[in-house]
Amino acid sequence: MFFPDKVSAEKIIKKYSAPVFVTDRKSLDNQVQLIKKHSLENIKIFYAVKANYNPSIIKTLKKSGIDGIDAVSPFEIELAKRCGFAKKQIIFTGNNSGDDELREIFRQGITPNIGSLSELERFGNMFNGSDISIRFNSGIGAGESKYVVTGGSKSKFGILEEDIKEVKNIIEKYSLNVIGIHSHIGSGFYKAKVFKRAVRSILKIASNFRNLEFVDLGGGFGVRYDPKATSINLEEFFTAIKNDIKEFVKNNGRPIDVIIEPGKFLVAESTCLLTKVTNIKNNGSTVFIGTDTGINHIIRPALYSAYHHIINISNPKASQKKVTIVGNICESSDVLCKDIKMPLPVEGDILAILTAGAYCASMSSLYNLRPYAPEVLFDNGKITEIRRSLDFNQTLSGLGFSAL
Ligand code: LLP
Repeated sequence: MFFPDKVSAEKIIKKYSAPVFVTDRKSLDNQVQLIKKHSLENIKIFYAVKANYNPSIIKTLKKSGIDGIDAVSPFEIELAKRCGFAKKQIIFTGNNSGDDELREIFRQGITPNIGSLSELERFGNMFNGSDISIRFNSGIGAGESKYVVTGGSKSKFGILEEDIKEVKNIIEKYSLNVIGIHSHIGSGFYKAKVFKRAVRSILKIASNFRNLEFVDLGGGFGVRYDPKATSINLEEFFTAIKNDIKEFVKNNGRPIDVIIEPGKFLVAESTCLLTKVTNIKNNGSTVFIGTDTGINHIIRPALYSAYHHIINISNPKASQKKVTIVGNICESSDVLCKDIKMPLPVEGDILAILTAGAYCASMSSLYNLRPYAPEVLFDNGKITEIRRSLDFNQTLSGLGFSAL
């Protein structure tokens, strides 16, 4: 769980001002190498770029050896291409795509990972005989909170196993060539057992198809939000599925790629959000630590009740006190961490909000017309800007408004 030392944090804030995301290059590389070390030979890493689409971060991961990109929108595809990924290295896992979007994916030459009978029918009708992948929902779901589970009948994602006959009818009708089968059960699971169950169920579904080039097991590998937690044991995850994969490949009769699509696992712990304490208020029973960031930069606590550990970089030895850390957005839900015991900050202190590399910058908004936070890459003490701050005119223009 990366955070810079006090001297570096002060230097970064002096140059870029707070709030600012700081990403550790070495952590990104470590995560890629960790997967490579512990996973199976035929595993390909397709980074779920929605987690963090900063081009410098994507390129860093590419240099470290990821194999491709899982994209969920035409712009994410374009970004992947511009970061140097070839068409075959990009998969499109959209959902609720309209005909225009499906046409655009086809035009771009990207394999769509289709997750509904309607899309399958419409895609087949438009692009008879083409290659596709199919996203199934095997009924197994898991995730760090109920908001991020993508398996099971209560989730909007994927085609249910019970619809497999209908899938086959549509495929035959339009001579579609199913080259991939996909499933993603949710974001942030921590048990190898759940992964094994999910993999077994998707392999069972995949055995209905004969021309497969890949099976895609999705992402969702859990990360640490609390320093007291232990990291998942990746080796255990892959050992758990090894025999099932072997057996599947044997029966399939030809080699096959096994794709995984980690988002969080690659980027979450590499980054922290540095913020400054602007205000301290004692409202009866609660000590509120006010900061210069908020749900505009890190919405996960408000949206999913997610925990992000926060540390006091400036005064780590101050006396411990229970506080609630809040932002500067005009919403009562703008709470970054409730009732955390930490070294009591004073105004002006630098805090680091940890595990902020996934779904924080990429889910930022301009709400309250507060600008996005800039981003820097920390490489062994060397600091490079990887996302600049925008002034008022640039922000207005980015919103699509005319200059005033
Ligand atoms: N593949 C597919 C098809 C996905 O839908 C997702 C995430 C991933 C891969 C990557 O999952 P990851 O490895 O990052 O868990 N905003 C939420 C997470 C939403 C994830 C949506 N899909 C959060 O902040 O927890």
